[in-house]
Amino acid sequence: MKALVYQGPGQKDWIEKERPVIAKPTDVIVRMTKTTICGTDLHILKGDVPAVTPGRTLGHEGVGVVAEVGSAVRNFKEGDAVLISCVTSCGSCPNCKRQLYAHCSDGGWILGHKIDGTQAEYVRIPHADNSLYPIPAGADEEALVMLSDIMPTGLEIGVQAGHVKPGDTIAIIGAGPVGMSVLLTSQFYSPGRIVMIDMDPARLELAVQFGATDTIQVGAEDPVARIMELTENLGVDVAIEAVGVPATFDICQKIVSAGGNIANVGVHGKPVELHIEELWIKNINIAMGLVCTNTTPMLLKTLQSGKVDPGKLVTHRFKLDEIMDAYEVFGNAAREKAMKVILAKIVQARRLPAQAESGLRSCTHYEKPPPKGGFLLSAECITPPAICIPLNAKCLPLSALWSMSSGICIALFASCILRSGKCRKGNGICITLPAPRPLEAA
Ligand SMILES: NC(=O)c1ccc[n+]([C@@H]2O[C@H](COP(=O)([O-])OP(=O)(O)OC[C@H]3O[C@@H](n4cnc5c(N)ncnc54)[C@H](O)[C@@H]3O)[C@@H](O)[C@H]2O)c1
Ligand SMILES: [Zn+2]
Ligand SMILES: [Zn+2]
Repeated sequence: MKALVYQGPGQKDWIEKERPVIAKPTDVIVRMTKTTICGTDLHILKGDVPAVTPGRTLGHEGVGVVAEVGSAVRNFKEGDAVLISCVTSCGSCPNCKRQLYAHCSDGGWILGHKIDGTQAEYVRIPHADNSLYPIPAGADEEALVMLSDIMPTGLEIGVQAGHVKPGDTIAIIGAGPVGMSVLLTSQFYSPGRIVMIDMDPARLELAVQFGATDTIQVGAEDPVARIMELTENLGVDVAIEAVGVPATFDICQKIVSAGGNIANVGVHGKPVELHIEELWIKNINIAMGLVCTNTTPMLLKTLQSGKVDPGKLVTHRFKLDEIMDAYEVFGNAAREKAMKVILAKIVQARRLPAQAESGLRSCTHYEKPPPKGGFLLSAECITPPAICIPLNAKCLPLSALWSMSSGICIALFASCILRSGKCRKGNGICITLPAPRPLEAA
């Protein structure tokens, strides 16, 4: 198989490598269908993460299909479509027991770090029952890739650790994929004002499209003075650092209001100066941490219900074997106006498997209109698990489904749901339908 391998500082290669094999009964081998590149991979390539040794396959994000299962795996079987968490967890060590999965004694962030990662055709996932999530049928796979790392990171370490509340004024420093994930997930809590701070005008413009109410361009404006002006000298309720340099942590210390929170998400390579002499008297909380991914199940639900669409963070798409070009683009994100890149292993589109075709049945109604962008289940489609799809649907925006009043049940097999060029934005699905048959009247 092919894999993107770290060959020492500044060096990487897309090379032929042994396909991983089951090493422990709790392992699963996943055939990757989509992966991405993280800012952390760029840090590794600079030589900033010495635990990564030459020969290591990079990558800790992605989705795929189970190719092989260890004898002790209970939740997954061959052919299952799965989301890979960037954090591996055994589920039974003392830290896993208190949901501190990042500090699992036999896991944590190991993918593309201490063991071979996801930028390959196949990856071995230890403790698969706890480290993989089944992909809901019809889910947007590109959007799901954002749930491996950046979305839980933004939510857990930025929004939840910063205690964002309804009506709050919050500032996010750093409009990269992680800062954007903070922006998207903070809106679950309805902050009154979201100020995005970055030096890149293109990213700030995108932030406005994603819900930022104000932007501050570092370099052109003084972020501290501007925040004080916006907040009538009160400062912000929550200041979220999503860069990882002393200068941006310092901005947080200067803009946080009395009783406020600083949530540090950025990974720092250098010490920062903590102004405890100014902060103590202001009743400030400071939080920081490594993502635990315990919000992944909740994020999966919000994605399915259309409450959040992280697929819009994807700006560039490549085939998996074009990964060297993808690194070039992602490594020059400002020049290329890149946010997240998707690398997809293109698999030949297949007709519905025979078992799926035989699973087609007519159903007469939808139970209720689905939430925007979601699916719905007709009561008649429950066994086998199925979704209701309008007749003659070829490629349909999910949001249009609810406006139909009748359809057919399609048994859910990940392999029979294809995405076509038309469905690229993640708001539609493509289903290969056999000739429609007449429906009974509703
Ligand atoms: N805590 C965790 O568990 C965790 C998980 C994943 C990533 N991270 C960290 O989150 C941080 C952000 O990740 P990312 O992938 O979005 O990074 P990124 O490099 O893509 O984005 C950082 C953004 O910050 C902006 N920026 C840089 N210097 C700035 C300054 N002085 N003032 C204002 N803006 C500035 C850049 O223009 C860029 O848009 C990184 O440090 C990453 O390592 C932390
Ligand atoms: Zn990452
Ligand atoms: Zn554990």
